[in-house]
Amino acid sequence: MRRGRFRLSYLTAIPLLLLAAPQAHAATSGMEASSGWTLTQPAAMHPAVAALTDRTTDVCGPELLDRLDLDRTMEQLRFLTEEIGPRVAASPQEAEAAEFLAEELRLAGYEVEIQEFPRTQVVAQIEVLAPASVQFHAAVGRVMETPATQYPLLTPEGGLTGRIVDCGTGSCPAEVSGQIALITQGDGSAEALVRGAYDAGAVAAILHGPDWRRHLAAVPADGHTIPFVTVNLDAAEAIRAGGDVEINLQVNRYETSRNVIATRPVEGRPDAPVVVFSAHFDTVEKAPGASDNGSGTAGMLELARILADVPTEVELRFAAVGSEEVGLVGARYYVSQLSEAERARIVANFNTDMIATAGAEQTALFVNTLDGDNLVSRSARIARDILGYPEDLLMAPFNRGASDHVAFYEGGIPAANFIWRNPENADLEPWYHHPRDTMEHISRDRYHTALRIVLLASLQVMCADAPLLQEATAALR
Ligand code: BES
Ligand code: ZN
Repeated sequence: MRRGRFRLSYLTAIPLLLLAAPQAHAATSGMEASSGWTLTQPAAMHPAVAALTDRTTDVCGPELLDRLDLDRTMEQLRFLTEEIGPRVAASPQEAEAAEFLAEELRLAGYEVEIQEFPRTQVVAQIEVLAPASVQFHAAVGRVMETPATQYPLLTPEGGLTGRIVDCGTGSCPAEVSGQIALITQGDGSAEALVRGAYDAGAVAAILHGPDWRRHLAAVPADGHTIPFVTVNLDAAEAIRAGGDVEINLQVNRYETSRNVIATRPVEGRPDAPVVVFSAHFDTVEKAPGASDNGSGTAGMLELARILADVPTEVELRFAAVGSEEVGLVGARYYVSQLSEAERARIVANFNTDMIATAGAEQTALFVNTLDGDNLVSRSARIARDILGYPEDLLMAPFNRGASDHVAFYEGGIPAANFIWRNPENADLEPWYHHPRDTMEHISRDRYHTALRIVLLASLQVMCADAPLLQEATAALR
């Protein structure tokens, strides 16, 4: 049903794209004197620009930037964020996102593989049955880590369905019997609160408090307790405002996560250098993940679409990876499955993670690396200069891990992560890993800027005659 809704808008976009195509080609004929390229005077051009702009066709050069279609990208981002929602490692929503990405990449013309890997994860899912006005996300509650109780309490097949009954700070009314308790943290421990709900006959509990992370506190699974999840204050308020709220709660354990790998090989050259774009498409619990990392994922799809027919002797790969938020598991799995020879062929990894935040203070695009200045950070600076952006728009390189570029770096591959951060202190936006990481806080402008830079940077290592391509391939045997 969700897919159908998206497809409709996707298909209606196609005639528009066909109309737009001749215009993109016209850009190369010199008709568009006011295009972005004239921002930089020829005398100030970096050598790479000359190489790129000398072309008589629009196929592997800055003209490709005109093809960036932010409407499409925003729609793909909206689909991930609002139609699918939180995409926790190994969850059915992560799987749904993988199918969507695989389909998009196939449509763009790539060979696509969904690469599964083992990952055990307990995930809470809530479906609000009524009223439709109430929507919220929950995180799974944890139990004490004694040998018998390593996992939270799981719900039976099909989950638990019930009405949410407000128990205030812990005293549940009799009507909670057979229903789901909503409890606000007061002075009592999470353990006492869940036990109280159990004693009153509740079948499950929803906890919230000023510091909802504390509810990951230990509750012993001693047979006298019930499945429980945690929500933040906004969700608790929405539930209370909703009156009679009926939900289905599932707490399930899943064992498999996945990556989506799209490839465009170079015909007859199985030994061609490879450029890998990557972005994680999983989220933390509760977060719809518009910025982190629907933005990087949908942005990567757009790069894939634009680059699908670019004439280059470089093999292109797009790795949408799962299970990043639980420790870079998907990207590490992808790298671990490459043979030594395959790994040696990869000359660069461009990782996009949080590339569209509207955060007021996140005004610099950081290019995070672990090995100082590398091929990717240098290509980003070249792109910035060609595009005429101010020097301080980019922090390249900046020493930081914490995204999938780490996995590529560990595999000996020049890698960098692109991310908007506060230039003063490298802070991320306030709704990072939060239920408010929604479309509302996405900036089209920042999205466009980041994609222009990443696209043009990548061309520096894949277009014939671009100096960084020679440098990259010189390192190959
Ligand atoms: N997109 C984020 C954060 C991030 C911060 C990336 C700074 C790159 C630089 C990423 O998904 C994330 O939250 N990473 C985790 C670490 C990971 C190993 C679980 C983090 O920073 O806590
Ligand atoms: Zn992220």
